[in-house]
Amino acid sequence: MNSQDFEFVSQLLRKRAGIVLSGDKMYLLESRLAPLARKEGLPSIDDLIHVVRARREERLIGQLVDVMTTNETFFFRDKTPFDHLKDAVLPVLGQARKGSRIRIWCAACSTGQEPYSIAMMLDQDPSLTGGVPVEIVATDISDRCLERARQGLFTQFEVQRGLPIQMLMHYFTQQDDHWRISERMRQMVTFRKLNLIDPNYNMGKFDVVFCRNVLIYFDGQTKVDVLDRIASTVNPGGFLMMGAAESLVGSSQAFEPTQDRRGLYKLVNQASAKAASAA
Ligand SMILES: C[S@@+](CC[C@H](N)C(=O)[O-])C[C@H]1O[C@@H](n2cnc3c(N)ncnc32)[C@H](O)[C@@H]1O
Repeated sequence: MNSQDFEFVSQLLRKRAGIVLSGDKMYLLESRLAPLARKEGLPSIDDLIHVVRARREERLIGQLVDVMTTNETFFFRDKTPFDHLKDAVLPVLGQARKGSRIRIWCAACSTGQEPYSIAMMLDQDPSLTGGVPVEIVATDISDRCLERARQGLFTQFEVQRGLPIQMLMHYFTQQDDHWRISERMRQMVTFRKLNLIDPNYNMGKFDVVFCRNVLIYFDGQTKVDVLDRIASTVNPGGFLMMGAAESLVGSSQAFEPTQDRRGLYKLVNQASAKAASAA
């Protein structure tokens, strides 16, 4: 692939998904575009890029962006965010939302392991929210991932990563060499396509947003904009869960870290923030 083609694909990815591809990622581009070229019946990646450039066909551009997303995920990834949710978030929200419901958004859910982990956790112990019902909405930009997430079908390798064996036995049934999550768990999660850099999305309000391991692909300004929009979807008293190695420093003042709970942030109470700055 020549440098103009690399530049063309980088620009496309940045514009369409906010994803920044550094110059040393040529190997990544080639390894991900080669299967797409084959699928399209094209002899090489060069031909694929030529077709994309010449035809500007939305279907193909969408697929190119989709294959360039990194979808690494697993059940109960990093464990601590789920402990925070269980110990520090749900009991508080259970009190605050009595008589109503709690809404949780997984903002880059990949193939669904994150929202399904939350669904299983809630199902195992409904007392976590004091009986307050929970709605889980999970979104991603990748149609390929969303399709797999909706099916709830996982490989042996995927269920061996992070999922306790008791949960595997309780919530999954074996189908040939795959495992399918129960219909009840599938019903607990609504999957939708959403591009986090879309300035106009409207998802309603949430009490908790999981936004883990996606902002790392964006540049500084995109990260600021995405977090601003996420903050505007969070109810007062709501929470944001970030990835273990991620920080909001320099990217958002709408959230403040919680004490001793790495990765868990609370929406800043605007009224008390204003009063404090006026004092
Ligand atoms: C590494 S996965 C993280 C999955 C999960 N949150 C976790 O931590 O295990 C990153 C996901 O972000 C999605 N993504 C990348 N750019 C996006 C965008 N602009 N809008 C929405 N999702 C995006 C990718 O498709 C991918 O599935």
